[in-house]
Parts: sequence; C-alpha cells; structure tokens
Amino acid sequence: MPVIKVRSSLREYEVHLGTVHDFLRHLASLEHKLFVVDQNVWRCHADGILSALPRSETITFPALEERKTLEGVQEIYEHLLERSAKRNLTLITVGGGILQDVTGFAASTLYRGINWVFIPTTLLAQADSCIGSKTSLNYGRYKNLIGSFYPPSTIWIDPSFLRTLHKLDFYSGLGEVVKLHIMAGEEKTRQYLGSYDSICALDMSTLQRTIRTSLEIKIDYISDDEFDLGRRNMLNYGHCIGHALESVSDFRIPHGQAVVAGMVLANDIAQRRGILSEEKRRFIETRLLLPSLKVKAKPSDLDAMDIIDAISKDKKRIGSGLVLVMLTEAGEMVRANDVEAQEVRAALEEVANLLCEGSRF
Ligand SMILES: NC(=O)c1ccc[n+]([C@@H]2O[C@H](COP(=O)([O-])OP(=O)(O)OC[C@H]3O[C@@H](n4cnc5c(N)ncnc54)[C@H](O)[C@@H]3O)[C@@H](O)[C@H]2O)c1
Ligand SMILES: [Zn+2]
Repeated sequence: MPVIKVRSSLREYEVHLGTVHDFLRHLASLEHKLFVVDQNVWRCHADGILSALPRSETITFPALEERKTLEGVQEIYEHLLERSAKRNLTLITVGGGILQDVTGFAASTLYRGINWVFIPTTLLAQADSCIGSKTSLNYGRYKNLIGSFYPPSTIWIDPSFLRTLHKLDFYSGLGEVVKLHIMAGEEKTRQYLGSYDSICALDMSTLQRTIRTSLEIKIDYISDDEFDLGRRNMLNYGHCIGHALESVSDFRIPHGQAVVAGMVLANDIAQRRGILSEEKRRFIETRLLLPSLKVKAKPSDLDAMDIIDAISKDKKRIGSGLVLVMLTEAGEMVRANDVEAQEVRAALEEVANLLCEGSRF
C-alpha cells in the first residue's frame, strides 16, 4: 500500500492510500479517543466503511461554514474533555475540509496539541488540503481569519468515500487537482488528460494514482516553505481572483470551481502581459479548465468593481498593486505584485461569456 512521508517542522507525518478498514479497527481499539465524523459521511457510511467505530466514542458534526468557528471548536473541546481529561487523547476526524479545519484547530490548541488522525472524505481534502498543516476558522464575516499550523500525525486516504460525494463537491475538488497538474508541467498535464474520463467515472485505481500525484506535486511546493513565505505562495494560482469570485457570488461558487475560473482569468492576464502564448492559453482553457467548470457564473458574480474590491481586501495582499500568480510559457509560476485593476477588468470582459456558459453535469 503506498505511503507518502511529509516533512514538517513539528513532526514528520505519513499519508497512506488504500482501504481504511483495518486502520479503523486499530483506531477503534485505542484507549482514549474520539471520532468526529461529518454528518453526511456518517449518514452514508455508518453501516459500511465506518461500521467499526464505537458509537459511544463517535460524535457527528455538520460541514457548515457557520460552524467553522471558535464556538464549533469549543464544542469539540467539551466532547474531548468528557471522554478524558488527559493529554494522551487521540482525535480522529472523518470528513472534508470543514471538519479538517475545525477539528484540526481543536487538536492543535487543546493541551497545546493532542494526537490527531485525519481521514479525508472529499476529493479536495484527499488531493490537496489534507497536507500542508494549515487549519483555519471563520471569524464574523471573515473567512479563514484565525488559524494554526498543525499537521495530523497520520492521514489515511480511501478514495471509496468519494462514491457518495455530491457531484458539485467532486468537481470543486477536481479544480485543485487540475491546478496542481498544470503547475507540474506538460508530462503531468498529459497524464491528467489521459486519465480524465476514468477520474470522472470514479475508477478507484485511477483516483488513487491521481490523488497521489496531486499530493506529491503539492509537497514539492511546500517542503521548503511550510509557513508560506515564498514558493508555497505559487499554490495560489487561480486563488487570487478565485477567492474574490467566491465572496462576490456569496459562496454559491464553491472554492475549487472559483479556482478554475480564477486560472482562466489569470491566464488571460498572463497572455496580455506577453508571458503566455495564445496557443498554450487556449489549450489549457479548452482541454483542462473548462471541462471541469460545472458552475455557471451569473453576470453579477463577475462585476469588475466588486471583484477588484474583493481582491484588494484579500489578506494576502502586500504593496499597492494587485497580487496575481501566473503561469508562464516555460511552465514556470510567477507572482506579480503590480497588477492593475484595468487588467482584471479587461480579463473579466474577455472571458465573461465562457464563465457564464459553464458546462453542466
Ligand atoms: N486547511 C486547509 O489547508 C484548507 C485548504 C483548502 C480548503 N479548506 C477549507 O475546506 C473547506 C471546504 O472543504 P471541502 O471542499 O472538502 O468540503 P466540505 O468539508 O465543505 O464538504 C462538502 C460537502 O460534502 C459532504 N461530504 C463530505 N464527504 C462526503 C462523502 N464522502 N460523501 C458524501 N458527502 C460528503 C459534506 O457534508 C458537505 O456537505 C472550506 O471551509 C475551505 O476553507 C481548508
Ligand atoms: Zn484552494
């Protein structure tokens, strides 16, 4: 069974890929533990993959952004302290990025850090967010404002959870997968294209291989920059404008889908700046990005004033221009700090039709 080791300043941790059945039985035999399971995952898998979980040491938690808060964390503390007031507790999370964030923050702060195991169940969490050590909470109207760096001790990825994932959540995760493959260059891009139909048909071995490749690409970007001070920033490809689209659409456009649209826009700006050819930009757009863009944007989601305003407010912004990560003709990633509002406006005008068309399931 494939195992990936990830280095981190806190500890080295392992990512296992394959059936989680035996590992769950092992976790169920631990003395002091609590399983926190996404409510929908529990509904779909309580009598199947998760049947080994002891009911008295399992709680469910809803995957709602409104619960990814300090209050949500306090709820988790209460449940943990009810079970054992000792440091030797293991918290086991089964769910997607929301459960990862709220429980990861709880695990990182209770007793300044308890043992934490993560079993991701969405494509986004399996192929992207499970590694990288970040936990984030929403605060008031600010998304992901509070957080910590804390990796799980073990991550176990079983792609069979993905069979019950809603299509929209699947394609949101696919947005991050395609981003990572584009960032890794032509060979990985070709590999992704060749696997695309099998990925969408949920072929388990293809999914496992694609998730593994995605994680390896991400590790390459974070291994020397865990705290996001340099190279790791490049993973924000598609995110600079993507985050703005998420908030302007009131989060109707899910994260990974907004990232796909963000890459389309970033590529348009890169072409205008003469660092990406029209040919390469068109190839990426028509073969890689648009096929996985399933959410249609409304014209109001693409209002240039609102988008530029939202980019300007983004917490990652430094300096006076807008910050944008772009792909170059040579396949390298560059980060510009001097993008002008006019460039974003022109890109929005150019691709608005494409983004509003979208392609449904
Ligand atoms: N910490 C990080 O590094 C990081 C990185 C990226 C995103 N995030 C956060 O992750 C969150 C998004 O996470 P996500 O896209 O994984 O989705 P999610 O956790 O919001 O889950 C999406 C939906 O799928 C359901 N679900 C989860 N697994 C399922 C399964 N196997 N079968 C059926 N339903 C299932 C959930 O109940 C929910 O309704 C956001 O809050 C985002 O900010 C965190
Ligand atoms: Zn992302």
